[in-house]
Amino acid sequence: MDREYWRRRWREGRIGFHQEAIDPHLLRHLPGLADRVGAAHPPLRTLVPLCGKSRDLLWLGEEGHRVTGVEIAPEACALCASEQQLSPLSPPAGAERAWRRDLPGGGRLDLLQGDILDLPTPSPDGEGDAGPGWDLIWDRAALIALPARLRPRYAGHLWECLRPGGAMLLVTAEDDSAEREGPPHSVPAGEVDRLYPEAERTELERYEQDRSDGDLTTFTIVVHSLIRPAR
Ligand SMILES: C[S@@+](CC[C@H](N)C(=O)[O-])C[C@H]1O[C@@H](n2cnc3c(N)ncnc32)[C@H](O)[C@@H]1O
Repeated sequence: MDREYWRRRWREGRIGFHQEAIDPHLLRHLPGLADRVGAAHPPLRTLVPLCGKSRDLLWLGEEGHRVTGVEIAPEACALCASEQQLSPLSPPAGAERAWRRDLPGGGRLDLLQGDILDLPTPSPDGEGDAGPGWDLIWDRAALIALPARLRPRYAGHLWECLRPGGAMLLVTAEDDSAEREGPPHSVPAGEVDRLYPEAERTELERYEQDRSDGDLTTFTIVVHSLIRPAR
């Protein structure tokens, strides 16, 4: 599962994961998590890994948060920048290209083109009063987009990005077919616990969802909050 795979999918328009609406789990759980994260909201320094051209980015910025999306496929970044009216910016360390849009109400959206694993940790520094690191990470169709061999490195990296006391909102899918070709991949709750051993994990939702791709009829959507204990 490499960059070329994702570039091809974006070029061919095979982006069934993209949602035209704001993710309903984010809408439901952001207020509670913002309360939990405390000190810095708004703006919450919010990282959206493997962001595609998600509409959640702009929505979070419009809510007054400081949002950074990281996306590896140049095709996705170009679409995101044009659809969300971002202006080019000189790229920070770890990014190949960057775009920004300042939003009324103090919110801001940055888009970084690059590999999430190249994003320096912990960042950002000096914004907000809660110390270095991100206040919130929004992982939708990101962990479950990665094959098993890449997940430990990805999760370890994200954990380093999150500030102590910060929160991750994570949506996973589970089914009973470990062999099924992904993405999306099945990532059971037990694996989430192994990937994030220090997290205080709470299941916020668990429900069955119909699948449209054939042999399996349903899979289980699980919404987790992962809190990084304050030091
Ligand atoms: C399943 S899509 C989900 C996109 C977005 N989260 C959404 O909800 O629409 C996964 C995205 O991750 C991007 N991606 C894959 N590996 C990446 C990496 N190592 N760093 C940054 N982006 C990556 C792909 O190009 C693709 O756009």
